[in-house]
Amino acid sequence: MANKELVDYFNRLNGKTVSPSQIKTGNKQLNAEVISAIKKNGVDSEGACKECVFFGDKKVFAMLKSKLPVKKPEAFNELTDANGLVNLNQQLINEGAKIAKTFCKFYSNQRIIEIQERFYGSEISIANLQTFSKKVLGFEFYPNTSISAENEKKLGKEIYKYNLSKQKLMLTLPQKCYDELFNTFLILNRHGLKFFDNHSGNILVGEDGFTLIDLDYEQWLSGGMKKPYDFNSVVKDFLFPFSSADLFCDYLTNGQIKEFNKNNVEIYKKLIDAVSSFGIKIEIETIKPILTYAVGTNLLNEKFNYIFDSQNRIKNK
Ligand SMILES: Nc1ncnc2c1ncn2[C@@H]1O[C@H](COP(=O)(O)OP(=O)(O)O)[C@@H](O)[C@H]1O
Ligand SMILES: [Mg+2]
Repeated sequence: MANKELVDYFNRLNGKTVSPSQIKTGNKQLNAEVISAIKKNGVDSEGACKECVFFGDKKVFAMLKSKLPVKKPEAFNELTDANGLVNLNQQLINEGAKIAKTFCKFYSNQRIIEIQERFYGSEISIANLQTFSKKVLGFEFYPNTSISAENEKKLGKEIYKYNLSKQKLMLTLPQKCYDELFNTFLILNRHGLKFFDNHSGNILVGEDGFTLIDLDYEQWLSGGMKKPYDFNSVVKDFLFPFSSADLFCDYLTNGQIKEFNKNNVEIYKKLIDAVSSFGIKIEIETIKPILTYAVGTNLLNEKFNYIFDSQNRIKNK
């Protein structure tokens, strides 16, 4: 947890345009770390739009920076609600949402910068082939550029290795972690907040469970808040990201896909158990496409009763 000095410090940066030379605090060490994280070229992790640098004592902070330089006026519009963002984020956390704590958002060095509490974990399965190929092959691979057979094989092997290791981790997590994640979707929904960018790259998993990242606070704060959706839509949003282990199936063998499907039987049982633990009855027909994709038609038929067992104990409301 951040101490008071740190929170005060980040509060001073919040919503402002600051140049590294303006960043001053009693905490010299942190000051230097923030500045060097702002100026750093290399990244620790990246998504499609933002890059991420870990910094601070024991690297407990994650600094998100827009990848491309952004002009000031545009940044200002985005930043006018920086306080609203921090407050909404804190309110959701207070209610029990497993989301990354956001300390502040400001503009510096031509980037929009957000400082969050670092979550120790990574995406539940590879969602972005460009960034992943950059990491494993050293260059960005686009589906319509050619790639050597050797590199293709290497990419496939690494996708398999990564996704399998995350499945294995998820299989060891207690049911509580799945319940907490579903509860997070329910909390967002209670506020009429949809998890717009809902894919496997925006759910991180670690030894302590799951967290949602990349929430669209701006869209919510600028009027994107609506009435809660029906529970079944929330269930669909919750189940969908876990079905993507074989998203890049062109690079995987049939045997590897089968292994993912088999693991998904157990993972989906836990996901369905989580929904059931909140007393929510699922409209099975509407989620069948997700399940079929996640475990395959044959295995779904075979394991259907096993996966949905907990639903039998719920009465229609
Ligand atoms: N709080 C955090 N803790 C640890 N890693 C994070 C955190 N927030 C983001 N990341 C990492 O940075 C990447 C990019 O962040 P994200 O907000 O998803 O940006 P994008 O809009 O580019 O998808 C994520 O995929 C993840 O690897
Ligand atoms: Mg993302």
